[in-house]
Amino acid sequence: MKNNDVQQAAEIIKRGGLVAFPTETVYGLGADAFQPIAVARVFEVKRRPFFDPLIVHVADSEDLEKLVIEIPPHARKLMEQFWPGPLTVVLLKKEEVPDIVTAGLPTVAVRMPRHPIAIKLIELAGSPIVGPSANPFGYLSPTTAEHVQEQLGRQVDLILDGGPCEVGVESTIISFSEKEPRLLRPGGIPLEEIESIIGRVKMGGRIEEKPSAPGMFPRHYAPRTPVLLDWSEKEIDGYRGKKIGFLLFKEQNSFLTSYPAEVLSKKGDLREAAANLFSAIRRLDSLDLDFILAESIPETGLGLAIMDRLRRASSQATGSKQ
Ligand code: TXA
Ligand code: MG
Repeated sequence: MKNNDVQQAAEIIKRGGLVAFPTETVYGLGADAFQPIAVARVFEVKRRPFFDPLIVHVADSEDLEKLVIEIPPHARKLMEQFWPGPLTVVLLKKEEVPDIVTAGLPTVAVRMPRHPIAIKLIELAGSPIVGPSANPFGYLSPTTAEHVQEQLGRQVDLILDGGPCEVGVESTIISFSEKEPRLLRPGGIPLEEIESIIGRVKMGGRIEEKPSAPGMFPRHYAPRTPVLLDWSEKEIDGYRGKKIGFLLFKEQNSFLTSYPAEVLSKKGDLREAAANLFSAIRRLDSLDLDFILAESIPETGLGLAIMDRLRRASSQATGSKQ
């Protein structure tokens, strides 16, 4: 069922049900963070391994207090600057936070989304809400209510439709579980903006922590069709007899336009490209192609998050250091 009734959605959450909801980044699969059985259903529906912890969404500082023990000064600065918005911070959790939410880790990932429907839902439900992206584990995140409907449809009690997501890539995750802040996932807030406020941030997960942030698994955010990066126009002849399509960053006036192609942003604007990314890959993925050839994008601003997702989609990622 798909509608706009936030009140009804909040009732479903209170009763331990599942609601897919829009955020400014991607659609989330929501359940009350303090109802472990409801949270277990989220894992089940996503077919997500239980060792992969969830992000908890809050609407205000009262919600936050239910979740975390303390907020280091650098984390506080980032929250003041970027909340509500596409920033997730990993902080030491309170004992009351169910272990199923955090996969037994001593930390919890928290974010305050900017989408008015998401905020309203959390407020009316009266409790923080877990919200992994509303897609089967390993596949691309949904950026419209239709994407959720296609993939999780009947298994979700309600899908709130807020239209296409404005940002289009998931939140930036910064961990404060060690002394120094660490980037666990590039996302909707550019790293440059974060570093301009708190200085240098370490990159990537610690090796021993590796499976704790499977958004960092090499192959993730992946369509069914193999995605290739690092190709050159000269090699295209070699794909004769194969069905190929292109995921292009900017408008091209070359022969590439005689193939199925998606252009992420005619002008080469990174924000527009991020907002279009997952829908464009989904459209190419529905064409039954043998390969999607993706153009590389400059890794500044949102380009870092876009290239991270493309590398994972192409499984050319080296794994831990993004
Ligand atoms: O933009 C977003 O963040 C979206 C929207 C719906 O809010 N949510 C999202 O959630 O992307 P999900 O579950 O698809 O990705 C959460 C990532 C996973 O890679 C998970 O491993 C990591 O956050 N994570 C969650 N809790 C963590 C923790 N305590 N320590 C380290 N990583 C954590
Ligand atoms: Mg996800």
